Parts: sequence; structure tokens; C-alpha cells
Amino acid sequence: MSDRGVASGRGEDLSVANRQNGSGKGVTASFPILTRTDFSKSTFLIEIEHPVMAKAAKPGQFVIVMLHDLGERIPLTIADFDREKGTITLVVQAVGKSTREMQLLCRPGREIYAMLGPLGIPSDISSKTKKVICVGGGLGIAPIYPQARAFKEAGAHVIGVLGFRSSNLMFWEEKFRAICDDFIICTDDGSAGIHGLVTQGIEAAIRENPDVDEVVAIGPPVMMRACTETTRPYGIKTMVSLNPIMVDGTGMCGGCRVKVGDAIKFACVDGPDFDGHQVDFDDLFTRLQRYRPEEAAAMKRYSDSCRRLALAPDAAPIEGGK
Ligand SMILES: Cc1cc2nc3c(=O)[nH]c(=O)nc-3n(C[C@H](O)[C@H](O)[C@H](O)COP(=O)(O)OP(=O)(O)OC[C@H]3O[C@@H](n4cnc5c(N)ncnc54)[C@H](O)[C@@H]3O)c2cc1C
Ligand code: FES
Repeated sequence: MSDRGVASGRGEDLSVANRQNGSGKGVTASFPILTRTDFSKSTFLIEIEHPVMAKAAKPGQFVIVMLHDLGERIPLTIADFDREKGTITLVVQAVGKSTREMQLLCRPGREIYAMLGPLGIPSDISSKTKKVICVGGGLGIAPIYPQARAFKEAGAHVIGVLGFRSSNLMFWEEKFRAICDDFIICTDDGSAGIHGLVTQGIEAAIRENPDVDEVVAIGPPVMMRACTETTRPYGIKTMVSLNPIMVDGTGMCGGCRVKVGDAIKFACVDGPDFDGHQVDFDDLFTRLQRYRPEEAAAMKRYSDSCRRLALAPDAAPIEGGK
């Protein structure tokens, strides 16, 4: 596999060209960042020019990104794509070394070194689903959007339920209102919509719409588990998008194994969407915590080197886009 990734469009062509010329020189990054919007101190959106990926992407898929040639491979959901503009959108939460580095360096005019994808099985947007609740919590709000839009395009009645900690962290409200037949906001502090968690939003939506035939929930694992427990008594099919630690993203390393019912699945090739009522969330939580000491050490090394290089001022959030 190319170190710039299979199915990486222009990047693949360039890396092949560079291997052929054998010089190892002139490896130019090839995925320009066009716009960036900061939603909060830790969450930001980047729109990247990648016409091949934009053409191929489907709701529910993800990419593996390498920011630079020494960068870690990190999986990120394709939060949106625009086939006409030839762009894909990623929404990133800076939680550790690599995502903080992205927060610092991903600016319009700069480029991403490598992108592998689109990966994963696209979400099953069945025309049999007549009424669906699309639930997004925190960072799950961005990836639930293309699914909600696809259900709408397939003719379903779409109920959006979005959860934020507070109204000042809200984003994409208008985008969702434009595609949802019903729309419920929940905030932890009660500053907008229902004062409470998305599970209360789901309960309210089911009360109003007892004929809901599917719920799709994307967000932190703890939120997704709570959603599955909310819908279980109603027997409503509930799909979740799992985010175990991934390395290669192509089914070879086994890093992303998850337990679903009696089966062991690899989220990168068998998912990332699974029937939430079958997922062993306790196993997922344990696996996600496995490398905490190494992650903390990497973050400390990175912070120390940033301080030495005095990079911190460049990390200020960009307001409102370009
Ligand atoms: C299919 C999938 C889609 C994802 N989509 C998004 C997204 O759209 N936006 C977003 O901000 N994040 C997304 N993530 C999570 C993102 O990959 C991690 O936050 C990122 O890799 C953390 O790297 P780090 O070096 O910044 O933090 P670290 O300090 O290395 O890790 C922080 C936490 O992130 C998780 N993590 C670390 N490495 C990985 C890895 N290689 N794969 C998966 N999780 C990891 C672990 O829970 C870890 O405790 C997704 C993960 C998966 C599997
Ligand atoms: S990430 Fe390696 S098998 Fe899924």
C-alpha cells in the first residue's frame, strides 16, 4: 500500500509519480484546505479539496488522515461532501496530540499530506424506513448530517435530535432545520431547547411519533449506549457508529475489533455502523482506554515542543470561516 494511501485521488497519483522518479524529492502535499470554521475552543471544521473523494463518498464513511509525513494516521468521519465543488468536510475535536496538531496547522492555504478513503460500509439508507430519528451528540452532530439528508432524499420523515452542552456551542442548526421535518435541540444546561440529554429528546420524539421505525445515533460511546437503552423497550431498530481505535483502516491490524452480539467484528471494514442493541459497549470502553498512558506521554512531548518553538499564538481559533 502506498504510504499516501489507496483511493487517495491526486495524492495516490503524486506518490506513484514520486516513487517512479525515485528521487524522494518534491513530495508535495496535495489536499488543499479551502476553509476552516471554529465552532468552539476545541472543535473546528475544515473543507478540503478532493474531487475524487467527494465523488466517491457516501454517508457513514470515514477517512484516515496523515497531517504530514511523520504524522499519526487518524480516522475521521466524512461529515459532508459536495460533489460539484469537489470538496469533503471534516469536523475535528482536538483531544490529544494529533488532533491538537491539526488544530494548530490546518488553515486555509495549507495542505493535508495524505488521505485514505472513503473507508467503511456506507450507512444503510433504506427506502423502507418511513420515519427516522437522527440523533447527534457533541461531535456526532456533523456526521449525522449526511445521513439525515440521505434519509430525507430517500423520502423518509426525518426527526433531528441534537444535543449540546450549551447554546453557545451550537452549530449547523439552520442546516439541520432545512432537511428535518421535526427538529429537537437538547442542552445540558437548558440554555436552548429541552433542558437535558438527547435521550429525553428521543423520548419526546417517540411520544409524538409512535410509528418511528428507526433511530440512528452518533456521538460519544456513552451517549450512543444511552440511546440504545432508551429505544430498547420500544423495540425500535437503533444504529450506532462505533469509533474504536483504528490503525490501518483496512481490516488487517485487528485494532478496531468490537463485539456485536456473538460475533467479533472489525469496525473499519464491517462497520462503522452496527445494530446498537447488539453492541458490547463495556468492551468498547475498555479498549478505548487501553493506550491512555502513551497518549498522555505523546501529548506532553508535543506540548513541550510547542512551548519551545513558541507555536501557541498560531493556535488561536479562526472565527467564521476562511
Ligand atoms: C471511524 C471513526 C471516525 C471518527 N471520526 C471522528 C471525527 O469525525 N472527528 C473527530 O474529532 N474524531 C473522530 N474520531 C476519533 C479520532 O480518530 C480520535 O479522536 C483521534 O484519533 C485522537 O488522536 P489524538 O492523537 O488527537 O489523541 P490521543 O491522545 O492519541 O487519543 C485520545 C482518544 O482518542 C481515541 N483515539 C486515539 N487514537 C485513535 C485512533 N487511531 N483511532 C480511533 N480513536 C483513537 C482514544 O479514545 C483516545 O483515548 C473517529 C474515530 C473513528 C474510529
Ligand atoms: S483498523 Fe485495523 S483492522 Fe480495523
